[in-house]
Amino acid sequence: MSEFLFDYERAFNPLITGHLESASFDLMLNQQQAKQIQSFLALEKGMKILDIPCGTGRHAKLLAEQGFGIDALDYNASFIERAQQFAKDAGLSVNFMQGDMRDLRFKEKYDRIFNVFSSFGYFDDKTNLQVMQEMSSALKPGGRLLLNVLNGESAVVKESENGIARQFKGLDTQYDPHSKILTTNRALKIEGEEYSYEFKVRLYNASELTHMLEMCGLVPLEWHGDWAGSALTNTSAQIFVVAEKSFVA
Ligand SMILES: C[S@@+](CC[C@H](N)C(=O)[O-])C[C@H]1O[C@@H](n2cnc3c(N)ncnc32)[C@H](O)[C@@H]1O
Repeated sequence: MSEFLFDYERAFNPLITGHLESASFDLMLNQQQAKQIQSFLALEKGMKILDIPCGTGRHAKLLAEQGFGIDALDYNASFIERAQQFAKDAGLSVNFMQGDMRDLRFKEKYDRIFNVFSSFGYFDDKTNLQVMQEMSSALKPGGRLLLNVLNGESAVVKESENGIARQFKGLDTQYDPHSKILTTNRALKIEGEEYSYEFKVRLYNASELTHMLEMCGLVPLEWHGDWAGSALTNTSAQIFVVAEKSFVA
């Protein structure tokens, strides 16, 4: 199993995540995204759904409130503890689990899986494919995956236009066209303390994703370029793909 492209403990430090969450996500945004996940995946009550990786569970909690049966998994034990405590206090039934998306070991358990907010591409190519295979194995035949990543095509376009990817304005980012890895360096002041970290993610475009999905027995059904469900174009900052697991292996 390959290692992260970046220092995981530093980039997903609970202090930083707490800070960024309160600065970037509000309940209304999370609710809109949860509603779109519901729509992209045509969620129905009674389905078995997996949110992976769930972070502190901002989408899983809201979908559980709507009565959906959700399991949610993240690598970070402290995010999971925080999410479990929230669910307990709110009387919500969500099965929050600590685990590794490189090694899920779920076999045909879920009707729907979602992996959103640039949570794919943290490893070398072989391991990223393995993560996709693990998600595919966890789906029942006919089950569906929603994958949401940054659009590699678009970052390349923006790099050549502006020297810096526009969606990362204000951040120090570099895109390496050979490795297709986007590196973000961020410096923050949290409670008076300076904190800096580096985050790396392998960017994929739609044709690479199609190839990987098909290798994992997943058939792309729909492509979108943003949370609102607009059509995907070369300049869309993001990719949302819904793919269905084939009935034949
Ligand atoms: C950008 S966050 C997104 C979380 C969530 N989907 C959201 O929208 O808030 C990425 C998450 O991936 C988790 N993660 C990174 N590597 C992982 C792994 N190998 N297995 C499971 N989770 C992992 C991190 O702990 C972090 O919570």
